[in-house]
Amino acid sequence: MGRVQGKVAIVTGAGRGLGFADAMLLAREGATVIATDIECASVPMLEAHGIRYVPHDVRDESSWKELVARVLRDHGQLDVLVNNAGVVHVGDPVNFDIAEWRHMSEVNIEGVMLGCKHALPPMIERRSGSIINISSISAHTGLYFYGGYCASKGAVASYSRAVAVYCAQNRLGIRCNSIHPGGIDTPINSVLAAEFAERLPTMRLPPQSPVSADGPQMRMGEPDDIAWAVVYLASEESKFMSGSEIRIDNTASVTAAVVG
Ligand SMILES: NC(=O)c1ccc[n+]([C@@H]2O[C@H](COP(=O)([O-])OP(=O)(O)OC[C@H]3O[C@@H](n4cnc5c(N)ncnc54)[C@H](O)[C@@H]3O)[C@@H](O)[C@H]2O)c1
Repeated sequence: MGRVQGKVAIVTGAGRGLGFADAMLLAREGATVIATDIECASVPMLEAHGIRYVPHDVRDESSWKELVARVLRDHGQLDVLVNNAGVVHVGDPVNFDIAEWRHMSEVNIEGVMLGCKHALPPMIERRSGSIINISSISAHTGLYFYGGYCASKGAVASYSRAVAVYCAQNRLGIRCNSIHPGGIDTPINSVLAAEFAERLPTMRLPPQSPVSADGPQMRMGEPDDIAWAVVYLASEESKFMSGSEIRIDNTASVTAAVVG
């Protein structure tokens, strides 16, 4: 029997990267998984593993209403929501582009808020559920070269605590936690690298800059390094865990050194 056997889970931003890995492992461990994204080149692979793909923009409240209604109509319950969809943009505090800041706020924060808002009512009805919000170690560190991303992921962490306390104090039987990955090898890093390359010349950086065009690369984790934590938080193994943060970063958030 799988670790999340019989559970129904939504994973957002599951067309690739961490969300894709989360969806695959949850399905492997017995969950019925609905994978959503604004674009997805992996629909056949998802479907081959019994995962249904639903196009869905986390910024759009009506899209959330339709998604949750469809899941309830087709599966009768919603047990797990993984708010994974996220975007990153590069900029230092005097160079940040307001449109890019808002893009991160809309996807990373408002997307999480809307997900919680629409997943909670059916979970409350059954007095059961687990919400897993994907934050980042950027919520804890001062990575000023993408400070807007730090701000958005900090908001994800604090909102996750608020949702957890709402659920605990009202005895709703629902848990909410955040996961804080360090650098994981996914397509988001090529987006990041391209923006860095373009903007490094215009950003203010100290002589001993932690970022440079030819600097040593930190060793990246693999998507499953995060997905196993998602399985744990989705399962009953974590039944006493709510309002918590799980950092998965191979020491990156607790040392100034580059880990090669
Ligand atoms: N990879 C890392 O190093 C890392 C580290 C820390 C945190 N994270 C976080 O993990 C999550 C997943 O990142 P990833 O590395 O897999 O990135 P990724 O870019 O590979 O995947 C993100 C997915 O989100 C989707 N998405 C973007 N905007 C969306 C929207 N409006 N609605 C729905 N989906 C949307 C994209 O289409 C993409 O499929 C993000 O929240 C990211 O901030 C990643």
